[in-house]
Amino acid sequence: MTYLDEMFGLDDKIIIITGGGGIIANAIAEGLLKAKAKVIIWDIVQEAIDQTIERLTEITGEKNNVKGLIVDTTNEESIEKSINETEKFFGPPNVLINGAGGNRGKSAFIDTNISQFEFVLRLNLIAGLVVPTKAMAKYWIKKNIKGSIINMTSMASYVPLSGVWAYDASKAGVLNLTMATAKELAPNGIRVNAIAPGFFVGKQNKDLLIKNEKTGELTERGQSIIQRTPFGRFGDASELIGAAIFLISDMASGFITGVSIPVDGGFLVDCI
Ligand SMILES: NC(=O)c1ccc[n+]([C@@H]2O[C@H](COP(=O)([O-])OP(=O)(O)OC[C@H]3O[C@@H](n4cnc5c(N)ncnc54)[C@H](O)[C@@H]3O)[C@@H](O)[C@H]2O)c1
Repeated sequence: MTYLDEMFGLDDKIIIITGGGGIIANAIAEGLLKAKAKVIIWDIVQEAIDQTIERLTEITGEKNNVKGLIVDTTNEESIEKSINETEKFFGPPNVLINGAGGNRGKSAFIDTNISQFEFVLRLNLIAGLVVPTKAMAKYWIKKNIKGSIINMTSMASYVPLSGVWAYDASKAGVLNLTMATAKELAPNGIRVNAIAPGFFVGKQNKDLLIKNEKTGELTERGQSIIQRTPFGRFGDASELIGAAIFLISDMASGFITGVSIPVDGGFLVDCI
């Protein structure tokens, strides 16, 4: 085994990715499989799971190392059952990537649709962090597994993005809870970190960013993001893989907990 395999190889990792059928989770899963991890895709949509597994198998050839399970991560009962089901695939999972999340709609604050606001809070905070983290950490503590969690923060965790108020509030909450749970779970040897993607075209934000998929013409908001991203482009989801492997590898990041790594083409350091 080379030094780099030892440092970054993930052959001892059994990784659950929630929202695993999404654009970002798909790309990260591909990298994890190439780094020899076992990956279990959790998603609320069966079709998204099937397509993901087909794509990952085709690209990586790791048919035996990727499985899928339909799970609603807002549902506590279903999560506990799903962890037990997941265990049957490859043994006890030791990494959780909280990839479920996203935004719905955009409006002036005074036109906020409260039920949509509640939906987005629930999606990012409850489905995207609280329920899976609670169940997984409880399971790890009981089994004395020193697991590790990666949450999905956002540029909105640091600076509010106009029009997506619930997304802003929930992603600020995800950053806060990343730090809070890192402290809470550190005595159990459980690490909690986050990746803060800049702007990547996903299912949930496509309509906000792209006006015409055929020509690639951007919306006004899409153009404004590109202008404020020093690298002058959206990210490619594959550019998130390195941060994920780094945060999962105990040898590379075993003393790191409670951090959020921006992968944003410089969006957060944009200034005049
Ligand atoms: N795309 C971006 O530019 C960007 C930027 C910053 C942060 N993020 C965050 O990264 C994460 C993934 O984003 P994406 O763009 O890949 O999203 P996406 O919409 O492509 O994928 C999200 C996936 O989550 C699944 N999901 C939704 N609710 C669920 C539930 N209750 N249980 C299980 N699965 C559920 C959906 O079916 C979907 O497959 C989100 O938290 C998002 O907020 C994305």
